[in-house]
Amino acid sequence: MALIKKFTQFVESPGNAATGNGAVSSLPKIETRGMSFFYGTKQALHDINLKIQDRAVTALIGPSGCGKSTYLRSLNRMNDIIEGTRVTGDVLLDGEDIYDREVDVVSLRKRVGMVFQKSTPFPKSIFDNIAFGPRIAGLTKKSELQSIVERCLKQSALWNEVKDRLKDSAMALSGGQQQRLCIARALATNPEVLLMDEPASALDPASTARIEDLIFDLKQNYTIVIVTHNMQQAARVSELTAFFCMGRLVEIGQTKQLFTNPTEKETEDYITGRFG
Ligand SMILES: Nc1ncnc2c1ncn2[C@@H]1O[C@H](COP(=O)(O)OP(=O)(O)OP(=O)(O)O)[C@@H](O)[C@H]1O
Ligand SMILES: [Mg+2]
Repeated sequence: MALIKKFTQFVESPGNAATGNGAVSSLPKIETRGMSFFYGTKQALHDINLKIQDRAVTALIGPSGCGKSTYLRSLNRMNDIIEGTRVTGDVLLDGEDIYDREVDVVSLRKRVGMVFQKSTPFPKSIFDNIAFGPRIAGLTKKSELQSIVERCLKQSALWNEVKDRLKDSAMALSGGQQQRLCIARALATNPEVLLMDEPASALDPASTARIEDLIFDLKQNYTIVIVTHNMQQAARVSELTAFFCMGRLVEIGQTKQLFTNPTEKETEDYITGRFG
């Protein structure tokens, strides 16, 4: 099916900028419709209706425990690995249900890559970290792997710092460099969507600024969904912001509008620091 066939190609589509009134246009890259999520009997997400725009950054904000990570992980079925979890409703990628029985989860995760809060390089060389995904996909030709490694390290703004030490262990890199390496690794399988769960929360201000610059560059070619506790960061990097509270989507709107003139009182209370 198309979801499986398409994973290696970049999807050409118009910019799909958000419309002026904070609503979103009709061609989302990802859409959840009436989506609920359960850990066993505990319901963590309730009836989420959300459209994620293509080639834009969408920030997810909200108090601890409100379901941001759960929502993010449900977009590439990372929650599948947690026993007893269940999703109801629809999660659509380019209009196709990613929970359809015929979907190949490995192919899905190539299309929808993920970067975690804590950088998680493999205890391998810098080169082998990035070549890992392409090798699993069957690529063996050294020259092709070399060009992928170089492209991804350039895209993640790490090339100049590591180009002379590609054989060194990734564990010897600084925290900020490791996080950029993880972004490079996520880019190596040519994803269309990048999910980032608090990618800069463990980093110093200079490394955080580099990651934010990187997100800004990457959105030309990728759809990015980022969870952040840092509202200044959400304001700096995202076009759209979604505010979650207690497992519900309270509101989504253009970032500027949501931070200056939220529709819901709950959102206002959160962004003004009255709770959360
Ligand atoms: N593996 C799990 N098993 C059971 N419950 C879980 C599991 N992971 C998360 N939860 C629960 O689901 C709810 C949402 O958690 P989630 O991690 O998505 O929140 P979050 O918004 O990302 O919070 P934070 O900002 O602290 O990272 C919480 O009540 C949490 O305790
Ligand atoms: Mg979380």
